[in-house]
Amino acid sequence: MSIASNPNMPTKDNPYASELLVNRLMTEGSDKETRHFELSLKDSGLDYLPGDSLGVVPTNCEQVIAELLNAVGLTGEESITLGEDTMILEDALMHRLACTVLSKIQIKKFNEIAQSDRLADLLKIENKDDLVDYMWGRELIDLFIEYPQSGLNAQDFTGLLRPMPPRLYSIASSLSAHPEEVHLTVAVVRYEGNGKERKGVCSSYLAERVGERVPCYLHPNKNFKLPDDPSIPIIMVGPGTGIAPFRAFIEERRATGASGKNWLFFGDRSQKTDYLYENEWESYHNDGLLNDLDLAWSRDQEKKVYVQHKMLEKKGQLWRWLQDGAMFYVCGDASRMAKDVDQALRTIAQEEGVMSEEDAGAWVKSLFKERRYLKDVY
Ligand SMILES: Cc1cc2nc3c(=O)[nH]c(=O)nc-3n(C[C@H](O)[C@H](O)[C@H](O)COP(=O)(O)OP(=O)(O)OC[C@H]3O[C@@H](n4cnc5c(N)ncnc54)[C@H](O)[C@@H]3O)c2cc1C
Ligand SMILES: NC(=O)c1ccc[n+]([C@@H]2O[C@H](COP(=O)([O-])OP(=O)(O)OC[C@H]3O[C@@H](n4cnc5c(N)ncnc54)[C@H](OP(=O)(O)O)[C@@H]3O)[C@@H](O)[C@H]2O)c1
Repeated sequence: MSIASNPNMPTKDNPYASELLVNRLMTEGSDKETRHFELSLKDSGLDYLPGDSLGVVPTNCEQVIAELLNAVGLTGEESITLGEDTMILEDALMHRLACTVLSKIQIKKFNEIAQSDRLADLLKIENKDDLVDYMWGRELIDLFIEYPQSGLNAQDFTGLLRPMPPRLYSIASSLSAHPEEVHLTVAVVRYEGNGKERKGVCSSYLAERVGERVPCYLHPNKNFKLPDDPSIPIIMVGPGTGIAPFRAFIEERRATGASGKNWLFFGDRSQKTDYLYENEWESYHNDGLLNDLDLAWSRDQEKKVYVQHKMLEKKGQLWRWLQDGAMFYVCGDASRMAKDVDQALRTIAQEEGVMSEEDAGAWVKSLFKERRYLKDVY
């Protein structure tokens, strides 16, 4: 039942407290941490289709909040109001407010109090690149450490903070294969910034949990769906966590006995440590459900090999599949990967379809328009 037709369906403001059934590290030995999660949907009323996402409403890390309170000079016991709700500051910081990632508007508000010439300079439009550099790796706490503020009251402090945004994750399971469950594939954000160990709010919230309840809701995506006609072939390009919806797709194609051919391009750093869902893909490939499986390991040799390189190696076959009406799906990094995959598609159209650059661009656009080229990128 859709959210629109059921007003009791969990939402981001009224999420379902799902039991976390499985939290498994998939990248043992890698310098990257990607985890597989299984959550229960028992009695939630939530049902989803492959291609949908799950919204997760995280809690901030207790230690991060304790350090922030210390830097701001507040105890957390102060009473504050958020909208119509009155609560203690610590609860607001844990559950309701974004307390780490910086925004320009936040720095602007902070500088109304701090009155720093340096920050004022960084906020000038002509210095926008310097501001991006300043913000990269810094969090809210760094502002208070670099520009200590004494006497800021708790209510005014909350005025610097925006509401905690939920995070979306592409669903990695099909309900047909896993009734009453939803699975996720999450790259845990951990990095060093401004000399300190940092972690992403939601990915680390999930990573550090076992057997607890996770507040979540369904975020349908009608623009990333399997074809209605099960005989249509599909080509899936999903490096890194971009693999998630394709696990859902293939499970659904198996469960429904879809006759269309399936082709996956997957890539990550190293075959030994980063081959997400290796046993599943190898077994789908061996039993013929997955007709083609092309893998790109970027760090297993000196020169980077990416999914788009594998597409170009198979350009003749890829062009034929597309001529035969295949759907083309891309999921994962929007900033570079999806653009490079798009370019590879244009190159293939030029070389295999013998088209000019302009005609190849128009042909790729027509794939979009016909809804045969679908993206779930972030
Ligand atoms: C439709 C959709 C589907 C998605 N599906 C998935 C999925 O299946 N799997 C998945 O893992 N993610 C997915 N995401 C991304 C996910 O929603 C989160 O954005 C991601 O998990 C990071 O959230 P976080 O709360 O852990 O990090 P946040 O607390 O939001 O921190 C992220 C921020 O940290 C900073 N940062 C990160 N790395 C560095 C660095 N190296 N140096 C300096 N600063 C840095 C940046 O400011 C960045 O914006 C999806 C997003 C969308 C929109
Ligand atoms: N802090 C960390 O340790 C860490 C680690 C991983 C991911 N992350 C975060 O998690 C997010 C999602 O991670 P993810 O697992 O989905 O993906 P990812 O780690 O960003 O990348 C997956 C694969 O795609 C490759 N790749 C990089 N640029 C590409 C391009 N232009 N075209 C095609 N492939 C490309 C990567 O190679 P190379 O990386 O070898 O270039 C890697 O092999 C990232 O956006 C990142 O912010 C953080």
